[in-house]
Amino acid sequence: MKFLGKPRSHTAAFLPLCWLLLKTLQSGHCHPYGNRYAGDKVIRLTPRTEEEVFAFKNIYRRLQVDLWQPSSISYVSEGTVTDVHIPQNASRTLLTFLQGARIQYTVLIEDLQKAVENENNLQTQRNRRSLSEYNYEVYHSLEDIQSWMYHLNQTQPSLVQVFSIGRSYEGRPLFILQLGRKSRAYKKAVWIDCGIHAREWIGPAFCQWFAREALLTYKTDPAMRKMLNHLYFYIMPVFNVDGYHFSWTHDRFWRKTRSRNSRFHCRGVDANRNWKVKWCDEGASAHPCDDTYCGPFPESEPEVKAVADFLRQHRKHVRAYLSFHAYAQMLLYPYSYKHATIPNFGCVEIAAHKAVKALRSAHGIRYRHGPASQTLYISSGNSMDWAYKNGIPYAFAFELRDTGQFGFLLPEMLIKPTCTETMLAVKNITLHLLKKCP
Ligand SMILES: *[C@@H]1O[C@H](CO)[C@@H](O)[C@H](O)[C@H]1NC(C)=O
Ligand SMILES: *[C@@H]1O[C@H](CO)[C@@H](O)[C@H](O)[C@H]1NC(C)=O
Ligand SMILES: *[C@@H]1O[C@H](CO)[C@@H](O)[C@H](O)[C@H]1NC(C)=O
Ligand SMILES: [Zn+2]
Repeated sequence: MKFLGKPRSHTAAFLPLCWLLLKTLQSGHCHPYGNRYAGDKVIRLTPRTEEEVFAFKNIYRRLQVDLWQPSSISYVSEGTVTDVHIPQNASRTLLTFLQGARIQYTVLIEDLQKAVENENNLQTQRNRRSLSEYNYEVYHSLEDIQSWMYHLNQTQPSLVQVFSIGRSYEGRPLFILQLGRKSRAYKKAVWIDCGIHAREWIGPAFCQWFAREALLTYKTDPAMRKMLNHLYFYIMPVFNVDGYHFSWTHDRFWRKTRSRNSRFHCRGVDANRNWKVKWCDEGASAHPCDDTYCGPFPESEPEVKAVADFLRQHRKHVRAYLSFHAYAQMLLYPYSYKHATIPNFGCVEIAAHKAVKALRSAHGIRYRHGPASQTLYISSGNSMDWAYKNGIPYAFAFELRDTGQFGFLLPEMLIKPTCTETMLAVKNITLHLLKKCP
């Protein structure tokens, strides 16, 4: 069970080895990603008037900076908290413009390259790749996560089964980890996916944490035993495998898939706008260079098609769909694409309310909860709405920590508290399912 145990103590002599060597193909520099974020900033602004919104959108279009929050420029309106990653060479132009237009901003991250390097606990690097003492408090590369899945598949045959449901655009297998006591009898199931958006690394870390915690506590925790005896969990630790890999090797802030476009040089589709539910309507972009590009047609992305096919095949027994994103600290349920109340609102709202309360009981962290359209923003073609429309009665999307201090660069030190509290919420939702509420 070493794979499930605590990491080896971190006192092992710190190797002042550049971890770039472990992470990227480019050797010879001592900065990850070839130091490409040196001098970049992340700022936060909240436009107060229509004029400020208009002015900001103009400069945004001119400079094409990277929007962290919200996910599309179309969502920026009066009062929208807007986090923007500004490349070093655009910094002066943009900040001078904002000052001239009297748009107030605060600097969230002064030097993004330093923040990228601080995201990782350097002293645990030696542990990062070791398979015998798996460390759940660091971020893992795609290769590591896949080896981990193989290992669990081999060492936990009574509770784990790993299989592939297809291949990504670049040909990588799309692995699912099925968790639960194997049984011929009919069992309900819970679907969990992480890493639809490549740069949201805390997602895959949570999926791994969930599997470990479930396997470790199966014997000792009656609630966990009940869940694994009565349910299967289908866990997809990395949905967008190509994008996740790319976010390790080339661009830490990559969001989309990696598919090519026949007419534009821009690559990738937003895998959370590519589903056949009000596809490519409000809150999605038809332009291939945008971060919320909906794709050429619904399910154009092989990753989305594979998961949609799997869920269609299993829709009778999948009772809950849970998708893990970051960052905002929210627990969202349908609808995203319209302002309307779902038919089983009562049951879903109670489950969400209890889940965020359970989450808060761990470290006092507050999550907002509610229909995505009202709590976050309108978005069409996403997986949660699709799951709900296809007969899965409990569909949720988590936006994990934080609220902008680190954004996508949540330090590894915060993996444990984030996952511990999220675990309480997921267990709470799952136990709710096993009771009577349609
Ligand atoms: C900043 O540099 C990038 C890459 O070197 C380039 O593509 C972009 O056009 C530059 N932007 C500005 C505003 O100079
Ligand atoms: C998981 O283990 C089963 C049983 O040993 C095996 O048939 C299957 O191929 C394994 N899955 C993977 C992805 O290796
Ligand atoms: C779910 O969370 C609520 C609110 O914190 C708590 O009262 C309840 O006991 C939890 N249920 C389970 C089964 O954990
Ligand atoms: Zn996301």
